[in-house]
Amino acid sequence: MKPIYLDYNATTPLDPAVVEAMLPFLQKQFGNPSSTHEFGLRAAEAVQLARVQVARLIGASPEEVIFTSGGTEASNHAIKGVVFARLTRGLSGLLSRLFGQRDTHVIISAIEHPATAQPVEYLRRFGCRVSIVPVDRTGLVDPEDVKRAITRDTVLVSIMHSNNEIGTLQPIGEISAITRSRGVLLHTDVAQSLGKVPVDVDELSVDLLTLAGHKLYAPKGVGALYVRKGVTLDNLMHGAGHEQGRRAGTENVPYLIGLGTACDIARDSLPEAMFRLRTLRDRLHQRLREVLGERLVLNGHPEKRLPNTLNVSFLGHVGGELLQRTPGIAASTGSACHEGKVSRSPVLCAMGVPLEVNAGAVRLSVGRFTTEEEIERAAELLLTAVRSPARA
Ligand SMILES: Cc1ncc(COP(=O)(O)O)c(C=O)c1O
Repeated sequence: MKPIYLDYNATTPLDPAVVEAMLPFLQKQFGNPSSTHEFGLRAAEAVQLARVQVARLIGASPEEVIFTSGGTEASNHAIKGVVFARLTRGLSGLLSRLFGQRDTHVIISAIEHPATAQPVEYLRRFGCRVSIVPVDRTGLVDPEDVKRAITRDTVLVSIMHSNNEIGTLQPIGEISAITRSRGVLLHTDVAQSLGKVPVDVDELSVDLLTLAGHKLYAPKGVGALYVRKGVTLDNLMHGAGHEQGRRAGTENVPYLIGLGTACDIARDSLPEAMFRLRTLRDRLHQRLREVLGERLVLNGHPEKRLPNTLNVSFLGHVGGELLQRTPGIAASTGSACHEGKVSRSPVLCAMGVPLEVNAGAVRLSVGRFTTEEEIERAAELLLTAVRSPARA
């Protein structure tokens, strides 16, 4: 029997309707969207439709959507694009060339995905200064901390919309009110949020936004970056003039069609999906809590959280070991035991979660194809593993 899949935050299976929409573009409709003949025109039309579909899901204009190879590229483009544009252009660029000064400053949170944290680390090499704002025990950023961290050199604040491990949803609207009033750009990563909670670029008032196909029932290796009209970015990929000259490389047509279709499905099913995911997740939580009581600790915000994400610590256990003893479930853990040493989740560390609680954490994330029976069975399997003694 296949394990019960409770790892939708790691990746999602393709929706059958996504596969169906992609198939013609993997077979007969193979044209290059840059070609001016019939084959190319059909491909270009399909890519444009996908752009409209992505834009519609996030409340953007199609011209504000740049297709990428995934969430990692989108965030790299946003972050490096803003910083390099400032380093090389305008008065600050002139001053830095004249005096060798590099006066750029970026602010991120302590629990960003590596797709954000690592490009920012890389930029330190170019003299970019970085501030990392803390999160509280539930994983929330305090907008006042962002406000205090902004200096006259700050060019970008990048705070994820929701966290992949704990699901905590950040107060992006409050943060954008601050960044706007200070003339600082705001980037947010909605890779985990799309299709689970409403996301609208104007309501959030963000300048840049990252999305990833494979968290949304589209393929891996495709994503998009939203760039608000008027925002200046340097390119990440240099080459021919694809994506309005902003991202070189022949379009991955079938994957873009898959992404567009996935966005349409997410848009149509959102209110119902939110309710369904929350019901399944809460049932799983309840089943575990009924038996384990205080020996089960919820990580993340109790309410301001993705409706599909349940990160819980089984006190007295190492999360990774517990999952190894539960082969009937496919789930994730930020903590694992290697050669007798427990490695802990940096996200939970940043939240100040005590070591024992951190070690016992397991991330259970439900999705579109999770059933009620799977939830009941998963609870039973986990409870059986909790009761069975750990291997020496
Ligand atoms: C919050 C978040 N951002 C970015 C990414 C990276 O996206 P991709 O795998 O498409 O590069 C992920 C994927 O794990 C993610 O969870």
